This record gives sequence, structure tokens and C-alpha cells, in this order.
Amino acid sequence: MALLKKTILSGMRPTGKLHIGHLLGVLNNWASLQDEYNCYFEVADWHALTSEFAGARQLSANIREMAVDWLSAGLDPEKSVMFVQSGVPEHAELHLLLSMITPLPWLERCPTYKEQINEIKDKDLSNYGFLGYPVLQAADILIYKASVVPIGQDQLPHVELTREICRRFNNLYGNVFPEPVHLFTKVPKVLGTDGRKMSKSYNNSIFISDTQEDCVKKIKTAFTDPQKMRKGDKGHPDCCPVFMLQEVYAPGQVPEIRKDCESGVLNCVDCKKALLEELLKAMDPIREKREKILAQKGRAEEILREGTKKAEITAKKNMAEVREAVFGKNHV
Ligand code: TRP
Repeated sequence: MALLKKTILSGMRPTGKLHIGHLLGVLNNWASLQDEYNCYFEVADWHALTSEFAGARQLSANIREMAVDWLSAGLDPEKSVMFVQSGVPEHAELHLLLSMITPLPWLERCPTYKEQINEIKDKDLSNYGFLGYPVLQAADILIYKASVVPIGQDQLPHVELTREICRRFNNLYGNVFPEPVHLFTKVPKVLGTDGRKMSKSYNNSIFISDTQEDCVKKIKTAFTDPQKMRKGDKGHPDCCPVFMLQEVYAPGQVPEIRKDCESGVLNCVDCKKALLEELLKAMDPIREKREKILAQKGRAEEILREGTKKAEITAKKNMAEVREAVFGKNHV
């Protein structure tokens, strides 16, 4: 018998176009898992609603943009299921059943919840849905019986909660779900062009969809070491956002760049030229894929629709099993 592939589920909230931080930290990793695993990649639009409920109408455009980025980064609909959460209502049903068995304190003490409630003051987060965010995430994972969940460090509390909810469910109703494990993604440190965290809201991002001209402009005007004012000045690569990009895009040249920057032989303009060459080389195949996808009008949406249908088949089957485990046979 052929070895069954393990199932992976991961997801992203549709925030619109993605930057190279997402590419290097998430998408490249997802793309590399597609052969070894049975992959489900979810557009978590209901998760976005937990805080962006007032902007729900913006989500469709964001989903479309994100799907094109996913595809240009190498997610392959022939290999993986790419789907939209709200198109699979079984997630909501499982979320409801899991919410019955999730003690409130598990949610109230979740570090991501506490942090966001304390730090985000410009949004109303005092909602039932926001507190239940990790329960919804547990439903996403468990409904596909995923056993592996690739995530960044920040999502660990949610996967741990998923494991606890999973154990509780299995103890109460029988062994329905495999207990999922997280798979950490190595996230290279990429700063925005101004040296702060790369983020759309800071206007310092290099987007996956940027043209060559955009990239040139952004690198040309990117901050470097503020103490290296003119040619010949000694630089401090470890506090330079351009150097951090060199570490990602030109790892082979990094020792030399470091030495020449620190001694002052290398000036920032030449350093940036060398980086641009590598960056553009790396972005070329992505741009080509994007152009191919965009040339077929409506293709990204069609891929999501087909993926959502596939996801629904699995979710329906597993949900039938869940209902029977909870209520017994012939409940309704
Ligand atoms: N909460 C995740 C994030 O903000 C997105 C997400 C939703 C997710 N459902 C998921 C991640 C299931 C992994 C598994 O990044």
C-alpha cells in the first residue's frame, strides 16, 4: 500500500497584497511542502472579520490579490487545495461544537489575545468572536484532520490550544481527530526599507507584486546605516536594512560585503546595486508566473472556487463523523 501522505493545514488572513517578508517567511515554505504532504492552504476571511468586521466589503478584493500572490510564489492548485474559509460553512459548525467544550479561561489567558486587547486601542475587540479566534482556528485545523500545522512563532499558542481542545473532544466523544503538531517556519529577518518591521501600514514594504522599477526605486531610497554618511565612512552592517536583504538574497557575498562595509571600502550605492541585481533575479520567475496568471482573466478566483469545492468535500465527510461522535447515530 502506498504510504498515505500526512495532511497539512495552514492559513493567512486576507490582508491584501503580500510583501517579501511573507514570501520568505511563509510562502516559500508552503510551496516546498506541497510534494511531501497533502496540503490545505486557507484564506482565513472569517478570522479577518474578528477584528475587521466593519470592512467586510473589502475582503473580496483582498482575497483576489492574495490568491494571485500565492500562485506567483509557487502554490500549485494541481498539488494543493487553496480555499476560502467562508466558502466551507462546516468550519462554523465545528467551531460551534468546539466552543461548547472550550473553557473560557483557556481563551482569556491566551497570550495573543491578552496582547492585542492591551495594545490595539483603535479597534473594538471586545467581541465574542474575537475571544473565540483560537477556537475558529482549531476548527480550521481539525476539520481536515490535519496533523501538521506550519506556522510562525507567534501562532504557537493557537496550535497549543488546538491540541488541548482536540484532546478534550477525543476524551468526551471518541477518537475522531489526530492531535496536530506545529511545524515552525524559519523566518529570516527582513526589515522594511526604513529599518522598521516590514509592514504595509508603514509604507516600507517590497511587495511580491512590485515591478522592477518599483524595486529599483525602493532599494535606491532605502535607509542604510545612518552613521555611514559618505563614501569611505566605516559602516555597521548589523543595523542596516539593506545588509539584511543581502543576507537573504546574496548569502554567498555576505562575508565580503560585511568586511568591505565595515572597512569603508564599499559604499552604499554600490552595495545597493549588487543587492538589486540579486533581488531582481530572484523576483523574475515570480513576476513571470504572475503575468501568466493575470493573462487568464478570472483564473485566480476560479482556482479558489475549485479549491473550496474540494475542501468542502473533505469537511462534509469529517463533519458527518463528528456529528455521529457527538450525538450518536440517527440524531436527526
Ligand atoms: N491565525 C493565523 C494568522 O493570523 C491564520 C490562520 C487561520 C491559521 N487559521 C489557521 C494558521 C489555521 C494556521 C492554521 O496568521
